[in-house]
Amino acid sequence: MQQGERPEEAALVLDFGAQYNQLICRKIRQCQVYAELLPYSTSVAELRALRPKAIVLSGGPASVYADGAPTVDVQLFDLGIPVLGICYGHQLMAHLLGGKVQRGDKREYGAATLEIETPDGLFAGLGPRVPCWMSHGDRVLEVPRGFEVLARTKDTPVAAMADRERKLYGVQFHPEVTHTAQGLDILRNFLVREAGCSGTWRPDSFIEAAVQRLQETLRDGRALCALSGGVDSAVAAALTERAIGDRLTCIFVDHGLLRAGEAQQVCGAFAPRVRSFLHVDAADDFLKALRGVTDPEEKRRVVGEQFIRVFEREAAKLGGFQFIVHGTLYPDVIESGGQADGGARVTATIKTHHNVGGLPADMGLTNVEPLRLLFKDEVRQVGQELGLPEAVVWRQPFPGPGLAVRIVGEVTPERLETLRQADAILCEELQKGGLLRETSQTFAVLAPELRSVGVMGDERAYGQSVILRSVTTEDFMTADWSRLPDEALARVSNRIVNEVAGVSRVLYDITSKPPATVEWE
Ligand code: XMP
Repeated sequence: MQQGERPEEAALVLDFGAQYNQLICRKIRQCQVYAELLPYSTSVAELRALRPKAIVLSGGPASVYADGAPTVDVQLFDLGIPVLGICYGHQLMAHLLGGKVQRGDKREYGAATLEIETPDGLFAGLGPRVPCWMSHGDRVLEVPRGFEVLARTKDTPVAAMADRERKLYGVQFHPEVTHTAQGLDILRNFLVREAGCSGTWRPDSFIEAAVQRLQETLRDGRALCALSGGVDSAVAAALTERAIGDRLTCIFVDHGLLRAGEAQQVCGAFAPRVRSFLHVDAADDFLKALRGVTDPEEKRRVVGEQFIRVFEREAAKLGGFQFIVHGTLYPDVIESGGQADGGARVTATIKTHHNVGGLPADMGLTNVEPLRLLFKDEVRQVGQELGLPEAVVWRQPFPGPGLAVRIVGEVTPERLETLRQADAILCEELQKGGLLRETSQTFAVLAPELRSVGVMGDERAYGQSVILRSVTTEDFMTADWSRLPDEALARVSNRIVNEVAGVSRVLYDITSKPPATVEWE
């Protein structure tokens, strides 16, 4: 974000490389303070120029004693800006300011209880004992001069510290994770009580800033947006439309791997909204290219490549575009092994997420990703503020390669139809009970050669298996399987085996992520 666009009250989070650092930003934004992640190497002069109300030093995997350990200029603590160090940030603050950090040979990992010594400041309004989540090797043994211990745990003598005069704070635990139940209160206390933020930032502040940024980036150019019908690309398109009006053209490529009724829904929702909307039915091309392909990554590659072909062809027909808008979100960035803005490291590739729009650089179009720093729930809030239809805002995430990665084994028109029917029954039944919205993602998967014997009528049936998958998650990086009511599962199972030809068994997946992933492929 350019200077000037950043809201008056911003918190800057310096990234020392922990995997979930973007969560810190998100939790700060939940406290209604705008937050942004920057590399730890951002200079003190740059930070001063950005005039944040608060600075947070994130966690990270290093030890302050390691060769080349990431660090900051000690002058950061003299800027007069309140600083909160979290985990590694806490240790680094203690180390740089003359405290004592002890190297740990084993990690302290998991739940702990904070014994609060000073019940005001960071811990104002909280009880004397606060559950928290620890994940660290090194620990602070002695606080620097001017600091006091605010809290300890059984194993951590300095679980929280502060130099109140200079408004410097450190916590060894992780206030950003949900396991620290009152973590949000602690962050809010830091931001509002200690750093003097007013806590008035709202998602529509994001909208204003994003629209302004898009106008600056796109200037008088023309942009394409690949609409998948999901909330991410819809919000990205709506923001862009607000920024450049009819210089935006949305292309919806129907790859034939969508769920029942989905293409009609997408067209119904967008054709009237977007002045320039193109619906391309390319199902035959995709299915032909997927023939005989069974490897999940190969499927992603094929779908991605086909998508590019179709999109390039259509874009060339239209002509005159300089930009392509994507609805990439933060979790897509890190799970594809990409580098998040300001991220200090590249994470391992788990799946190469193909979002519609995994388009090549040589198309000559400049990528624009207005949602790159947001999480799903934040995008939904923005979508709601933008007035998008409820069905679009609350649509559960659906992978770019669609049902191709929910059919284990080869994708054929027949298998697609079987899966579509089973999936529609699952969603319909859960929707009836209002259960669908309570889950983060719910879908059916068609198993490969997992056939089983059944009895249908009086006949022996040897049919296919459908696996139901339903998860609850905040951020899709970790997920738990949904505890759906037995009666609902029973109704779904009963209807699937009765109504979907060739299916004789229904299974329910009770694996969390990790170690599993949300999708089967
Ligand atoms: P996994 O299976 O990686 O899923 O735990 C996490 C979230 O990402 C979605 N997903 C994808 N989205 N292209 C996408 O656009 C993909 O190739 C892809 N694979 C998984 C998945 O549906 C879940 O929401």
